[in-house]
Amino acid sequence: MPKPTEHISPKPENGGKFVFGVLGLLFAVLIVGAGITMWLGGATPGGLSIGGPFSLADGDGKRVTDRDLRGKFMLVYFGYTFCPDVCPTTLNQVAEAMDRLGPRADRVQTVFITIDPKRDTSPVMKQYVASFGPRIMGLTGTEAEIAAVAKEFRVYYAPHRTGDGPNDYTMDHSSVLYLLGPDGTFISPLRADAGAEQLAADLAKLLN
Ligand code: NI
Repeated sequence: MPKPTEHISPKPENGGKFVFGVLGLLFAVLIVGAGITMWLGGATPGGLSIGGPFSLADGDGKRVTDRDLRGKFMLVYFGYTFCPDVCPTTLNQVAEAMDRLGPRADRVQTVFITIDPKRDTSPVMKQYVASFGPRIMGLTGTEAEIAAVAKEFRVYYAPHRTGDGPNDYTMDHSSVLYLLGPDGTFISPLRADAGAEQLAADLAKLLN
């Protein structure tokens, strides 16, 4: 004797899978879309967690923590002093953008964090950042400290061997400027490759 409910909804399992699949895909698209929008738009009310506590060494080997830098906007960039092109270009653009901002630049502390701590010791960092003017603080640390802070800022880096010697390597690394507020919360990523004038204009909008 057939059960009365047997033919009410034909192939409910397939239909269910299909609907579930479509909803899942839609959800994924929405999440990715929202992420990209927040990333590019810089409006990140609790959306992206960028930054966090760190304790690193400045150019004199003195310990500097994220808390020491509160009270000013913090413009953070990760790179390394042996970088042949992107890092020096970016830091030049930052230095020029700061000049263009005039007195407003005093409200920003630019921090250059090395992802090559083996070669970028405190003295190396000190000399390097000085070549871009007086405004940039260079920070280094142990391999573990650098790995931790890079993770907090979602920075990718990896050595790329160029020979057999111990120093025969370059570093692949993501190149993004991060602006954090005076209270340490992430405000927005910034691009330096559009030029110093654009960077200064973008910064001016965010320095409220
Ligand atoms: Ni670089």
